[in-house]
Amino acid sequence: MKKWNVAAIRAAKGVRKLGCTTAYDACFARLADEAGVPILLVGDSIGNNVLGYANTLPVKMEETLSAVAAVSRAVKDALVVADMPFGSYQCGEDKAMENAVRCLKEAGADAIKLEGGEEYAYLVKRMTVSGIPVLGHVGMMPQSVNAYGGFKQQGKTRETAEKIMRDARAIELAGAFAITLECVPSELAAHITASLTIPTIGVGAGPVCDAQWLVMHDLLGLNECVPKFVKKYETLASTVRKAFETYVSDVENSVFPAKTN
Ligand code: KIV
Repeated sequence: MKKWNVAAIRAAKGVRKLGCTTAYDACFARLADEAGVPILLVGDSIGNNVLGYANTLPVKMEETLSAVAAVSRAVKDALVVADMPFGSYQCGEDKAMENAVRCLKEAGADAIKLEGGEEYAYLVKRMTVSGIPVLGHVGMMPQSVNAYGGFKQQGKTRETAEKIMRDARAIELAGAFAITLECVPSELAAHITASLTIPTIGVGAGPVCDAQWLVMHDLLGLNECVPKFVKKYETLASTVRKAFETYVSDVENSVFPAKTN
């Protein structure tokens, strides 16, 4: 398989639907890469899935860089996208540029993702003209959870739907190679998908998007409580728990190590 790049992702629009996921470490990144996942996002969802935070807000730049580096080392073909954590691009243009450069230069990411619409188009433009490929993210933006007052579907009224449409257009115009649509009504996602020339990657945004995200810990069933839009392809939480239980019991009962071990 040839290494995915942003040109190939753009060219897939209307030709091939892409099943994309997240990765936070080398082990799972290697397995997903071997399975042919085209885009691996080192999401700021590392906060709740791996680091034990309540949400994505506390994730630090150093935590992101360390995870992106691990994933980049493990992957051969997938496009590795570093998700800019909260505070890493909202506190000034130069700081944002410096942090995005670190994702590519120090950690080996192929691209970055940031949340934001019209108001962040200037930053997407500056990054893309500087050679940093950007994946946009509009609709429900988890880093704005405190502003929303909870994780709520966005774009339900005509006014908010039009704002999300403007956001998506502005991010495309600024040079993003693809855009995430999170938790918006499927009709709105379909309308945006038909209007843009770049691929839309939906999460909780219905079936019409050009590609889909499923967070790895949801997809594999490592998270037992998942949102309604998730499909679990495995139930690893119970499998892993059972393996640990059996191991503890085997040691207690002198079953492990056996002669063969
Ligand atoms: O951090 C994340 O996992 C994400 C995906 C839901 C797109 O942003």
